[in-house]
Amino acid sequence: MFGERIYNFSAGPSMLPLPVLEQAQESLLNWNGSGMSVMEMSHRSSSFDSIFQDAQEKLRALLRVPDTHEILFLQGGATTQFAMVPLNLMGEAGRADYALTGNFSTKAYEEAQKYGACSVAASSAGENHTYIPAQEELQLDGGASYFHYCANNTIYGTEWQYVPETGAVPLVCDMSSNILSRPIDVGRYGLIYAGAQKNMAPAGLTVVILRRALAGHARKDTPVMLDYAVQIKGGSMYNTPPCWCIYILGLVLQWLTDLGGLEEMERRNGEKAALLYDYLDESRLFHGTARPEARSRMNVTFRTADKDLDAQFAKEAAAAGLSNLKGHRLVGGMRASIYNAMPMEGVLALRDFMARFEKEHI
Ligand SMILES: Cc1ncc(COP(=O)(O)O)c(C=O)c1O
Repeated sequence: MFGERIYNFSAGPSMLPLPVLEQAQESLLNWNGSGMSVMEMSHRSSSFDSIFQDAQEKLRALLRVPDTHEILFLQGGATTQFAMVPLNLMGEAGRADYALTGNFSTKAYEEAQKYGACSVAASSAGENHTYIPAQEELQLDGGASYFHYCANNTIYGTEWQYVPETGAVPLVCDMSSNILSRPIDVGRYGLIYAGAQKNMAPAGLTVVILRRALAGHARKDTPVMLDYAVQIKGGSMYNTPPCWCIYILGLVLQWLTDLGGLEEMERRNGEKAALLYDYLDESRLFHGTARPEARSRMNVTFRTADKDLDAQFAKEAAAAGLSNLKGHRLVGGMRASIYNAMPMEGVLALRDFMARFEKEHI
């Protein structure tokens, strides 16, 4: 517990930085002397325009997004991108490569099959998605319209530790659960997408960053809302955007900037994850489920050898103010999601709780 709040290890929606919530609270009834809440503003007003531009500029600066790339603030979650990507990018080749390293990349692959011939460039399914395929294992089609992968597998607790090399084939990446956790070279990607509800903002906003040249080639029957070119032309305001989420994103980006940017965030995330993994490696009760070289810095998955004990652990942890540690229903066990907003104190509290639980049950 810290103050009235608990440490929330939810995989998403998840914790937001406390200073962001406090600032949102302060301006809830009257944003910047406007006499109204951001939730009540017209998205065409000058007040909201300044909020929107500010969030875009801050995101561009933090991620060092090159001029070749557009930033879009959309809706529909990452799941809508599973269709939007192939609708727009499948193109004349009509073929795309997918790496299947977990639940969401598999869903993306299944959705894309409706719009073209999708190949499995690699799959970790045979080993219960406990590892990330190496570059040499990727079966790449040089004529594919794009290569899709999911950078961090939220459910299985694995993370790509390298950016796949695909030559001239554009890289498309689902970064829902690790965007803004460390610096990335945006220029290497054709398209990045992420639901906001883990590291960026409340649920309801989807951020897409794409190379401008990839837009404008959508299938003829593409719904207007799902056409990147339409969204670029409309400045993400073809219809009403998720205004409140964009406002909170701006506050989160300011918080990230103030703490030292993505290099500092990466350092902190590395420290937090190491604390848990080092403990797991020593533990006689708990063990990590992902292979060490593929471990995620955002979602730490672990378990004991006993399902009932796992359930007891999650229950007792929740009673101690450490909530949402139950693993995803697909895999069981436990999962500690330690996104950007989870402070080191929360991770220390979890580690200490695990050590106490271990003493009682070993
Ligand atoms: C990596 C990843 N991709 C996609 C999704 C689906 O996102 P959404 O619920 O925003 O559609 C999630 C949700 O947890 C996720 O973790």
